[in-house]
Amino acid sequence: MTLRCWGHFRSPQIKTWLPTRWHNLQFSNPLGTAGGLDKNGTLVRGAWAIGAGFVEIGTVTPEPQAANPGKKFDREASTLSVWNRLGFPNDGADLVFDRLAKLPRPCPTPIFLNIGKNRWTDLLHAHEDYVRLARKFRDQADALVINVSSPNTAGLRELLGPNRLRDFLQPILENSNKTPMLLKLSPDLSNDDLIQVLDTSSEIGISGWVLTNTTLARPGNLSARYPVDGGLSGRPLAARSLEMLKITTEHLKTRGEKAGDKLIISVGGAMTVDDVFLRLRLGAQLVQIYSALVFNGPGFFHEVARYAQKTEMVTGRRRDHSP
Ligand SMILES: Cc1cc2nc3c(=O)[nH]c(=O)nc-3n(C[C@H](O)[C@H](O)[C@H](O)COP(=O)(O)O)c2cc1C
Repeated sequence: MTLRCWGHFRSPQIKTWLPTRWHNLQFSNPLGTAGGLDKNGTLVRGAWAIGAGFVEIGTVTPEPQAANPGKKFDREASTLSVWNRLGFPNDGADLVFDRLAKLPRPCPTPIFLNIGKNRWTDLLHAHEDYVRLARKFRDQADALVINVSSPNTAGLRELLGPNRLRDFLQPILENSNKTPMLLKLSPDLSNDDLIQVLDTSSEIGISGWVLTNTTLARPGNLSARYPVDGGLSGRPLAARSLEMLKITTEHLKTRGEKAGDKLIISVGGAMTVDDVFLRLRLGAQLVQIYSALVFNGPGFFHEVARYAQKTEMVTGRRRDHSP
């Protein structure tokens, strides 16, 4: 059964475990769907039906656009890896806006919206696409995720570069109207660049980070089946995603940031129940999954919930990340 069917036939089944509050957002549980799973806002009810604690829609661009040409998706069960070169195919901001407007309010979970530029918008004008999307969606979504980390839109990740980031981000954040704005980071940043991105984005008022998008690296003993371009996710991404989570939490501590002020979402290679809890222990307030659903199926959310509810450590303990 597809996620869309789940949404048609089942009401929301969102289990409460490790209920989490961050500023004024309430999560019955801290495990959500990652960007790209519901590019058009058509699967939100499906995500609720399988138990997601929050849902991310997108990447949405201002105008509708098709996928990149050629092969776009592959996976390998023996390495629990997924490869894609989709390049933000989506219905465009207007249609997605209408779908969001039709969701029942209040929604049973927070809704995040991931925004990106159209592939024909050049980097000099990229911020204009994001500003347009921020203005359109800031009152519809509980948080916006600024995606400049996909390897599948030519040049996009240059916007994370130290010379560009401040000028790119500032006008977008100025248009947030207090809706939290998160920055989704690439696992292919060097550690030094990661620190610089954290510092620069913090200084100009980012609300948090999503760590991480897919990688151009081909770690581990992957077969040669994947082309050199395109983004890799799943188990081979786990080590780098975890490393970036640790660097980020450590760095925020050394900067003296108030605990819980910034939202940290860990994504990338969380394939098992243990993987999810490891990330929560390492300081992520929230965790997202995509590849785990490809290999484990839609029952994964409830599998994690069952484990959590059995573990005395987490049942009934409310996490409050408000500073
Ligand atoms: C087929 C596919 C499409 C994706 N599309 C997007 C996207 O549109 N926007 C985005 O921010 N991330 C996208 N991602 C990246 C995921 O959100 C996530 O960061 C990545 O897959 C790592 O998580 P995982 O190992 O749990 O899959 C996509 C991933 C896959 C596998």
